[in-house]
Amino acid sequence: MFEVLSNETLAPNLHRMVVRAPRIATARRPGQFVIVRADRGEERIPLTIGDADPAEGTITLFVQAIGASTRRIVSTPAGGSLRDVAGPLGQPTHIEQFGRVACVGGGVGTAVLYPLAKALAAAGNEVTSIIGGRSSQYIILADELAALSHELLVTTEDGTRGRKGFVTAALADLMADPERAPRLVLAVGPVPMMRAVAELTRPHGIQTLVSLNPIMIDGTGMCGGCRVVVGGESKFACVDGPEFDGHRVDYASLMDRLTTYREFEDAARCAADECRLGEVANG
Ligand code: NAD
Ligand code: FES
Repeated sequence: MFEVLSNETLAPNLHRMVVRAPRIATARRPGQFVIVRADRGEERIPLTIGDADPAEGTITLFVQAIGASTRRIVSTPAGGSLRDVAGPLGQPTHIEQFGRVACVGGGVGTAVLYPLAKALAAAGNEVTSIIGGRSSQYIILADELAALSHELLVTTEDGTRGRKGFVTAALADLMADPERAPRLVLAVGPVPMMRAVAELTRPHGIQTLVSLNPIMIDGTGMCGGCRVVVGGESKFACVDGPEFDGHRVDYASLMDRLTTYREFEDAARCAADECRLGEVANG
């Protein structure tokens, strides 16, 4: 059992949870994730390790409550416990001194981006963080990213905070300025956003890494659930990733796989809410 030490709401349906997991806190490196089960028999949920404190023996998880299982995880209060936290899993991010780096986070993806931006800044890179959301209430970790970034750019689709529009508009401006143009771009967020970032940087030959979050089951390369196509080859996000060359990812097949089980997910969510099946069919 893994004790939950704190659980706070950062944005609608997004929680920051600090969990006691001493061995993971010591072993984990930026970019790695854990697989969490709230209880025996529950679905296994992959979650990025947002931060870790080896001295305290704790890890920080950012959990978006989108389905029945994630909702059970976020409903665990401080003092409660999670049944399983397995990890660290996945390849750590390759960190070196690149020079100017743009870290682009879309919505909840900003939580996955944060540990990477932190590690890149600690390695001496000049980090520009660009974060965006639908509206101001969906902008997360702005203070934390501002503290480690050379520059923080915020966008919202409704213009309630920062520049109005998508993160890609802010990135395009950054790339057009020779004094600020990045050598490496890291993008984490919805698939259409990562694809748009990759299309923006491709003509300029700017190295672009994206962090993929396909469906995962075992997290050890055995089940094939997290298969993604990169450069025409099948890769497993859990053992080969989660980061990949953004210019080589087959985003269309990733989108297809992400929506394969939507009907089952809706049914599980509906069952948890005790609503009628007809409501699922009607959306
Ligand atoms: P969202 O749809 O509200 O988008 C957040 C921001 O991303 C937008 O405000 C915009 O700035 C940018 N964006 C979105 N679509 C874009 C496009 N077509 N072109 C350019 N920019 C675009 O995001 P959300 O609701 O917070 O995120 C939910 C999605 O993010 C889910 O699909 C989830 O699976 C995914 N996600 C991915 C990761 C990951 O590791 N890649 C992590 C968490 C969540
Ligand atoms: Fe099973 Fe990656 S989650 S192979």
